Amino acid sequence: EGEVFKYYADGEWKTSSSGKSVPIINPTTRKTQYRVQACTQEEVNKVMELAKVAQKSWAKTPLWKRAELLHKAAAILKEHKHPIAECLVKEIAKPAKDAVSEVVRSGDLVSYCAEEGVRILGEGKFLVSDSFPGNERTKYCLTSKIVPKFREANIQRTFAAWFLKIPLGLVLAIPPFNYPVNLAVSKIAPALIAGNSLVLKPPTQGAVAALHMVYCFHLAGFPKGLISCVTGKGSEIGDFLTMHPGVNCISFTGGDTGIAISKKAGMIPLQMELGGKDACIVLEDADVDLAAANIVKGGFSYRQIFCPCFTFFLHLVNNLGNLPHNGQRCTAVKVVLVMESVADTLVEKVNAKVAKLTVGPPEDDCDITPVVTESSANFIEGLVKDAKEKGATFCQEYRREGNLIWPLLLDHVRPDMRIAWEEPFGPVLPVIRINSVEEGIHHCNASNFGLQGCVFTKDINKAILISDAMETGTVQINSAPARGPDHFPFQGIKDSGIGSQGITNSINMMTKMKSTVINLP
Ligand code: G3P
Repeated sequence: EGEVFKYYADGEWKTSSSGKSVPIINPTTRKTQYRVQACTQEEVNKVMELAKVAQKSWAKTPLWKRAELLHKAAAILKEHKHPIAECLVKEIAKPAKDAVSEVVRSGDLVSYCAEEGVRILGEGKFLVSDSFPGNERTKYCLTSKIVPKFREANIQRTFAAWFLKIPLGLVLAIPPFNYPVNLAVSKIAPALIAGNSLVLKPPTQGAVAALHMVYCFHLAGFPKGLISCVTGKGSEIGDFLTMHPGVNCISFTGGDTGIAISKKAGMIPLQMELGGKDACIVLEDADVDLAAANIVKGGFSYRQIFCPCFTFFLHLVNNLGNLPHNGQRCTAVKVVLVMESVADTLVEKVNAKVAKLTVGPPEDDCDITPVVTESSANFIEGLVKDAKEKGATFCQEYRREGNLIWPLLLDHVRPDMRIAWEEPFGPVLPVIRINSVEEGIHHCNASNFGLQGCVFTKDINKAILISDAMETGTVQINSAPARGPDHFPFQGIKDSGIGSQGITNSINMMTKMKSTVINLP
């Protein structure tokens, strides 16, 4: 049952020698939709070997040529948006329109990355020794990168030997199920523009969409072996990949597995985006309508909840990357901390908007679609039951059919409830009523996560003070948390991650410094 897809190595599509495949269960039908190869450790060794060889000549390929291939891949990716989106609908139940947006956003990301790479890898610096105390002018340090204006010459200039930033080597990219295409290209494109080779291990749910995305890079004509995509069971190749001596950098987005990887990986740069428990602090002077709209957008979905005059604006916001997905986003609003004096009004407004959310299959483009797996739905249900037993107020009736969970706002949540701290990754949102700003900040900072947070107030001074006090990678003032636009820095602290992402930061992170100094006689 389920069409079987090959993995990608050495510029070809291959069947694993294991003779085994891994099923991908459609979250809506709960039946096997596709199958991918269960690659072996020997096959992983082979792609690492090929990637090492391919990287050497790729690093010498002129920057403008690398950029040109990325632009080509981006265009092909956009041409393939519909078949890729169809996979996203079947594999992760992403609403149809959001699935298309994910692919378009990915194409834009790849193109922007190519341009940004030319900009930041193409500049140079010339340092002289006597600008530092105690030195004569006897040393010149050329920290130059490839200069794009030499494009016509079709070669790197002689002095391009003095790289400021050189590639790390082989980058291992492990994206999550919720953005198997976008969070794959956010790792692939910076790695490639910087002159690295790339091995991709897609999530099982989303692997076929990722393979199709890799097909677009294949069509663009990247050298053989430079990009590989291995699929399979984490238990067979997970640790093997992340602990592989050939890997020079790991870029991972996902859950707790990232913490385990960070403990096992060698002395290599790690870029990790893990979970979040993004808090939304609503103050007494907040624009409550704005806060309610963002809570629904950030926590569940936003379509059909704004007045029509906002439609164009929302379209832009959508394309800027804030794609809601049942709360299945690291950056979803995961706890509302509202001042008691405005709590009733806020809850009422949020409930009115929740009532308008459509619930059903992704093919119908519903706002709320099934969560990714049955075990995920069971986990969410566990949090809901715990909150019920401990006295939370259910603003809607709890309803579940298979993996489909109806949106639920839980009011009067207290810190002794699991849902106050744990990440449901589903359409279930707790509200904690607070009596002081300090109480809200304290709750936010007591979390083991520190990805993003947001604060709603009309007092910008207060907002900045709260932002400074919140221990998170980013704080959004008067808007829901979001990673995008994709060139913005994006980082988590504590259990939410290591390093900073965003196009520029990723390119820089996937390079290392190298200087050459000319010594005068
Ligand atoms: O959950 C992945 C995280 O990167 C969220 O991205 O664009 O939905 O804020 P976004």
